[in-house]
Amino acid sequence: MKMYDAGKIIVGIIVFVTLITFPFWYNRGKAAPSPKPKLLTREKECVEPTPYMKTSHMRLLNEWRNSVVREGNRLYISSNGKKYSMNLANTSLSDSCMGCHSKKAEFCDQCHNYVGVKPYCWDCHIEPKEKR
Ligand code: HEC
Ligand code: HEC
Ligand code: HEC
Repeated sequence: MKMYDAGKIIVGIIVFVTLITFPFWYNRGKAAPSPKPKLLTREKECVEPTPYMKTSHMRLLNEWRNSVVREGNRLYISSNGKKYSMNLANTSLSDSCMGCHSKKAEFCDQCHNYVGVKPYCWDCHIEPKEKR
């Protein structure tokens, strides 16, 4: 086969594949807008670095729960030495999760609805009650 024909065939294949898959990649950008959690706190940092919080906040919450319920320890010392109350939902504590992230609907739920998780924590823990 001459190079000339090979080139034509390759271009043909690229055009064909592009047309066939067009509906898939064309919709990607539109169909699923990424979640936009609103921070709504004047604090500058979370209890641990943001990349860790993004991926591992559920694990941290689990550690907090175990520490409080099993060991009766409510004081968390973060990796940079700051102290926080190990508490999920008490908004009168400014250093609890919901003390800082007081609008669950605009923060936690934004991501959770997007990925389709429904933490059962709120069966027992009281959700922040302001305008939702
Ligand atoms: C003292 C205030 C404060 C406390 C307490 C706090 N956070 Fe945060 N959190 C922040 C701030 C500020 C940021 C954003 C930091 C940044 O801009 O990088 C953040 C970021 C996050 C993020 C990443 C958000 C994103 O858009 O990627 C998650 C998830 C999160 N926090 C969950 C929690 C959970 C769960 C708890 C309790 C275990 C908690 N936070 C406790 C202030 C707090
Ligand atoms: C930046 C996006 C984001 C934010 C903001 C966020 N989460 Fe999550 N959360 C996730 C994702 C993604 C998962 C699912 C992870 C998985 O299934 O592995 C999750 C899972 C969880 C789980 C475990 C649920 C289960 O059923 O396994 C808990 C508990 C949780 N989040 C609590 C919180 C709380 C409380 C807040 C608000 C303070 C919060 N999250 C904010 C993204 C987020
Ligand atoms: C069946 C009821 C129930 C469910 C569901 C539940 N918890 Fe709890 N949790 C409790 C009780 C009771 C305590 C002890 C409260 C105390 O001693 O302050 C507690 C304590 C905690 C604590 C430490 C102190 C506090 O009040 O925040 C954390 C953190 C916690 N739970 C996180 C979670 C998370 C995250 C989930 C969901 C993945 C969850 N819990 C689901 C009942 C529950």
